[in-house]
Amino acid sequence: MDTFLIESIYRDTIMVAIIQASPLEKWSQEPLPTGDSCVLIIFGASGDLTKRKLMPGLYNLACEGCMNPRFEVLGIGRTPMNSEEFRKKIGEAAAKSKDTRDFSASGWTDFETRLNYMVGDINNPTFYSRLRNQLEEMEKNGSSPNHLFYVSTPASVAGPIIEGLGAAGLNRRDHGWTRIVLEKPFGRDLESAQTLNDVVHGVFDEKTVYRIDHYLGKETVQNILVFRFGNSLFEPVWNRNYIDYVEITAAETVGVENRAAFYEETGALRDMVANHLLQLLALTAMEPPVAFDADSVREQKVQVFRSIRPMSVEDVARFTARGQYGPGAIDGKRVPGYRQEPGVNPSSMTETYAAVKFHIDNWRWAGVPFYIRTGKRLARNLTEIRVHLKPTPQALFAGISSVIAPNVITISIQPDEGISIAFDAKRPGTQMRTVTVQANFSYQGSFRTKGPVAYETLLLDSMRGDATLFTRRDEVEAEWRIITPIEDAWANLPAPAFPNYAAGSEGPASWNELHEIRGSNAEHMISHRD
Ligand code: BG6
Repeated sequence: MDTFLIESIYRDTIMVAIIQASPLEKWSQEPLPTGDSCVLIIFGASGDLTKRKLMPGLYNLACEGCMNPRFEVLGIGRTPMNSEEFRKKIGEAAAKSKDTRDFSASGWTDFETRLNYMVGDINNPTFYSRLRNQLEEMEKNGSSPNHLFYVSTPASVAGPIIEGLGAAGLNRRDHGWTRIVLEKPFGRDLESAQTLNDVVHGVFDEKTVYRIDHYLGKETVQNILVFRFGNSLFEPVWNRNYIDYVEITAAETVGVENRAAFYEETGALRDMVANHLLQLLALTAMEPPVAFDADSVREQKVQVFRSIRPMSVEDVARFTARGQYGPGAIDGKRVPGYRQEPGVNPSSMTETYAAVKFHIDNWRWAGVPFYIRTGKRLARNLTEIRVHLKPTPQALFAGISSVIAPNVITISIQPDEGISIAFDAKRPGTQMRTVTVQANFSYQGSFRTKGPVAYETLLLDSMRGDATLFTRRDEVEAEWRIITPIEDAWANLPAPAFPNYAAGSEGPASWNELHEIRGSNAEHMISHRD
């Protein structure tokens, strides 16, 4: 049996309908909001995230006309260079980034005048008074009084930066606003997240704190709420009476890339499940919020996290799977195993694949398992949510037709953003034969363009003071409350035989076992997957 099940499930499906948004329009033809004036102070400005994600996002915003004329960047990093060198380095990276839309030399020349760089050692307390002087100087010369701090550094130095900002009085302003954006990972377990939150709250007010989970900025992730709460068609069936089980998958073909030091300490569960995938689960499972605003949405997500059944060590042994890739091939090219990647311990026990079966113990979801899985160096790049509905109560066409497959709603997060619904129809002909068909809505097909990239949306929201797509203190702690017992149990359970899947494969076989423990319920599921 195929362990990954991505293609096989629709083997017999015929696509019947392309649902197009009407009228056909480009998202960027809508009037776009503009960010407040501000100075964006980036800690970790010479790092990878700044080059690959933040700067392309900012450049796109400038090109779309969303950037306030008084928007500037002050990059902080340890690498010695001046602003000219910083602009050149960032410009070269932005030109290559897949997140940059319509890069042009002239567009970049206009944009780069907003970028400045300052060398600084964030561990040196005197640095923060230098930073304050620099910001005061900029303001005297016409820069905005609003300060948006962006902490894009390893989690271990986030605390000292926040304390340094507080000690220098940079945490609030008499005239103008101050906000702080914190990158993931937010701690590495419940205790460290609580400690970091205490440090944050000792210096900043929660209303000014923006914890990033970039999945929340993705178009299709935001669309989950519109799909569920903007249509009367789906919500009535969105519960245990009609839904059999839900699968949330984030498969990547990339390996550890150049992040071995980070990944060795993190692993797939902390890197992807503790944040991105739990957020997808929360948006899929949450109750309707009373309003579409930051606190109402976050309140409902927290309720979902609180309803997830805590796992004992025995549960972890039964309901989770982990894996690590060995050598293999991706797109026909040989690639090394995780343990052979530069910077990785040759006997590393870090997992590059994690799968968990979650139970949500609440009124709506009792008895409906949520299967979460993610892995690196898998056969394809794909992030999606599959909602499997129950079979019809009576098998009316059994005997006169092939098996009727239960309906499946697929929300594709990437790479082909959209929604598809698989349902059964009569096959043309004089006989009563059925076939599974599929109605598809594709963002690309309907809007002719991809929407803004996640960081673009989130950066603009932080400049406008909208925290709806950011995570709150209790939310990140609730996420760790779910994940930490799994990490602890894994540390105590017998070590798995790593590597246990080949790069370019469908992942470790143990994923099958997770599905099979569904017992009798699994029957129909397996019958239409073989
Ligand atoms: C990051 C993880 O948060 O998300 C990476 O640290 C992962 O390991 C990435 O590759 C995936 O993001 P996206 O947007 O490419 O799905």
